[in-house]
Amino acid sequence: MASEKGNKDYAQYFDFSSAKVIKQEDGKTTYRINGRDITMLSAPSYSDEKKRGKEEIKVHYENGVPAELSGLGRGKKYLIYTYGCQMNEHDTEIMRGLFEAMGYEATEERKDADVILLNTCAVRENAEDKVFGELGHMKLLKQQRPELILGVCGCMSQEASVVNRIMHKHPHVDLIFGTHNIHRLPHLLQDAYFGKEMVVEVWSKEGDIIENLPKKRAEGLRAWVNIMYGCDKFCTYCIVPYTRGKERSRLPEDVIAEVRDLARQGYKEITLLGQNVNAYGKDFEDRNYRFGDLMDDIRKIDIPRVRFTTSHPRDFDDHLIEVLAKGGNLVEHIHLPVQSGSTDILKRMSRKYTRERFLELVGRIRKAIPNVVLTTDIIVGFPGETEEQFEETMSIVREANFSSAFTFIYSPREGTPAAEMADDVLYEVKQKRLQRLNELIGELSLANHLELKGQIVEVLVEGESKNNPDVLSGRTRTNKLIHFQGKKEWIGQFVQVRVTEPQTWYIKAEVVTEPEAAAI
Ligand code: SAH
Ligand code: SF4
Ligand code: F3S
Repeated sequence: MASEKGNKDYAQYFDFSSAKVIKQEDGKTTYRINGRDITMLSAPSYSDEKKRGKEEIKVHYENGVPAELSGLGRGKKYLIYTYGCQMNEHDTEIMRGLFEAMGYEATEERKDADVILLNTCAVRENAEDKVFGELGHMKLLKQQRPELILGVCGCMSQEASVVNRIMHKHPHVDLIFGTHNIHRLPHLLQDAYFGKEMVVEVWSKEGDIIENLPKKRAEGLRAWVNIMYGCDKFCTYCIVPYTRGKERSRLPEDVIAEVRDLARQGYKEITLLGQNVNAYGKDFEDRNYRFGDLMDDIRKIDIPRVRFTTSHPRDFDDHLIEVLAKGGNLVEHIHLPVQSGSTDILKRMSRKYTRERFLELVGRIRKAIPNVVLTTDIIVGFPGETEEQFEETMSIVREANFSSAFTFIYSPREGTPAAEMADDVLYEVKQKRLQRLNELIGELSLANHLELKGQIVEVLVEGESKNNPDVLSGRTRTNKLIHFQGKKEWIGQFVQVRVTEPQTWYIKAEVVTEPEAAAI
């Protein structure tokens, strides 16, 4: 626990100069800071979060909400705002499940909510700024309705500097918890209701894997399934290994049972989630079963489409490629973050591959799966990135022929090694690089789409297009956005369409086979 004496994070990131200790019992301390009482059950620490212990991870099969708390939310409403990646979206689904098991009802209106949670993302500064902006807005709401419970959870809560800032600047927050103790939500809510203090419970060390927590998935055709948690890669710019803990894989039988259940419920597409899905199974001590084996087993389940995100190039082995090449419900789209095209920058990012190794992997994938679509993530303006090094990123994007990419300007994250690196590149230069990169990605995306002209592709119809209710929209197996004229009844079904007008970020098409006849 971070309150242990001698923990350097405590002195470095927490400012207790104006704090008075009010109470100390059962290992918890209540402080008074600027007139606000704050009970610290446990607080995050970057140095503890960095540790990777050898302890065995246990799996617990729980029921979620203890009977005595199952009526806590009767007559009350909850609202969760979610920032960040699919992992967070899925965590929100678990929290929704817990809320509803306590009798809460969902609301979209903040004025009706009895509990509001911000499920936050720490990956870049602008993600954090959004959350702090929102917390500012909530101050008035809390003044108007003091009985409202306002909580902050997710990856930002795992940062000592963020918790310190909330304790000093946002006294209207009632509850701070992290990514490892979501299952504690019912107990934490109870604490927040019955005490008047702000409650802080953030675990620095990941806990065991907890199965069977209730989940309230977003209604629709697609569902997320966690296959592993955490990340051990420690890319030098990235906060995720600190906020999400060490790599832990769910047991294959639990993943497979969940996928089977989703298939029975009628979901059409699942996305397997992990920060680095290719590391799946590396932590199993009693069996030799990896991501390729999992995909090979999931391939046999009767669910039309299976995706995964995100894969790290380093653990992308030949067995996985071989399995993906079998196709079927395994779609021919791979999101493979490259981050940079310069071997020198990749080394300083600690990505553990070179430009050549990455291109060689792309070559192997394309050989085995000729119609594969590759997308990627790229960071521009890593500390000290030269013009030549940026040009190497531009050229790898062309050589790998990515269809699309998420592109970011490097954002220093407190506590990570890259934040200590000298950076003499002007922000305006980074912005120009981002703009040039995005123009190139646009050109490649259009070129990729033009190649599809006249071809017939399968679309999973998701709904009406945002701008025009006469137009339906959906996604191909390769995740391309398609717009076409059709009937509302087709929503949720597979339709064969012919590509007519490819655009840069979407594709217009016309129907060839109506759903009844479509072979699914
Ligand atoms: N586990 C995934 C990445 C999750 S974070 C992977 O390794 O592929 C999603 C993306 O955010 C990363 O791929 C990276 O491109 C970007 N990112 C992470 N940290 C960043 C930082 N400090 N500044 C800018 N972009 C960052
Ligand atoms: Fe971050 Fe690297 Fe882990 Fe991805 S693999 S989450 S970029 S540390
Ligand atoms: Fe953000 Fe945490 Fe995901 S930092 S990207 S929400 S793992």
